[in-house]
Amino acid sequence: MTSPQSPASGRYPAGSAAFPHRDLTGLAGLAPWEILFLLDEAEQWVALNRQPQKRSERLAGLTIINAFFENSTRTLLSFEIAGKRLGADVVNMQAAQSSVKKGETLIDTAMTLNAMHADAMVIRHQSSGAVRLIAEKVDCPVLNAGDGQHEHPTQGLLDALTIRHAKGDFGGLRVTICGDILHSRVARSNIHCLTTLGAEVRVCAPPSLMPAEIEALKVTPFHDFDAALKGADVVMMLRLQQERMSGQFIPSPREYRHLYGLTLDRLAKAKPDALVMHPGPMNRGVEIDSNVADLPGRSAITTQVEMGVAIRMACLDVLTRRSRGVEGWA
Ligand code: CP
Repeated sequence: MTSPQSPASGRYPAGSAAFPHRDLTGLAGLAPWEILFLLDEAEQWVALNRQPQKRSERLAGLTIINAFFENSTRTLLSFEIAGKRLGADVVNMQAAQSSVKKGETLIDTAMTLNAMHADAMVIRHQSSGAVRLIAEKVDCPVLNAGDGQHEHPTQGLLDALTIRHAKGDFGGLRVTICGDILHSRVARSNIHCLTTLGAEVRVCAPPSLMPAEIEALKVTPFHDFDAALKGADVVMMLRLQQERMSGQFIPSPREYRHLYGLTLDRLAKAKPDALVMHPGPMNRGVEIDSNVADLPGRSAITTQVEMGVAIRMACLDVLTRRSRGVEGWA
């Protein structure tokens, strides 16, 4: 477990006493040590969250605003729990009940929240790039809780932490990500995170759901799921993001399941101890069968949720250190 004042020596470059970014809008471009730093910071919160008494006063007196312009269960609740477990005052703004419905612009909404002296803002928005736009306008750290098809950085981090807990190091690990890669911010954040940490990443989707620029992301694309699964240490399944589709991308859910659904038979093509992951929400019987999603000892889906709270605690703590004047931090 690491202490916030003294990160594990040797893992980080000399002089890099702090996470050198005000915001967390994506994992693309982060150095390996910056990602490892956030994972290491989360370990103390994994331990705390497993205690009966889960309260820290680390962020006491701070105000965190969660502004969600898109639906969420896991991300919204875990950011709320994370802030509260750190002692902050947490306020949730749901767009459906806000003045966004009366025509207020995104920037005006952001400036309104800024005027309330939030100490951190957590934003989910349906448009790629919207969170970066808000970050440029406000005075406090901004955390991306998922923007369009762009990135979902805390999901990438929590997935990496889940993998690290199950498999140890990332070097030499083969991770197969299968599903709607085209529309998935989770896939993008995981690709950036896992390739940066040295894992081999394979992505698998029908041609209609594979981004044209996929080769540039240092992954190996597959359309044949059985081939993509061969030798996989981790199998990460993604749902079809119908809300981002205009037009027909697959012949039918039944046909999709036949070719790309994770069944017990298919899982047998991966390594015998391959970890099964899914960021949720799941569409059972489409991209993943229930007997795989609930497979004891193999499915890490509930562990992902657990790690999500710890990662979000770490990110809120680390990104507010500058404003809290924590000694030794940029
Ligand atoms: N994984 C994820 O982002 O889930 P939610 O949409 O429920 O937050």
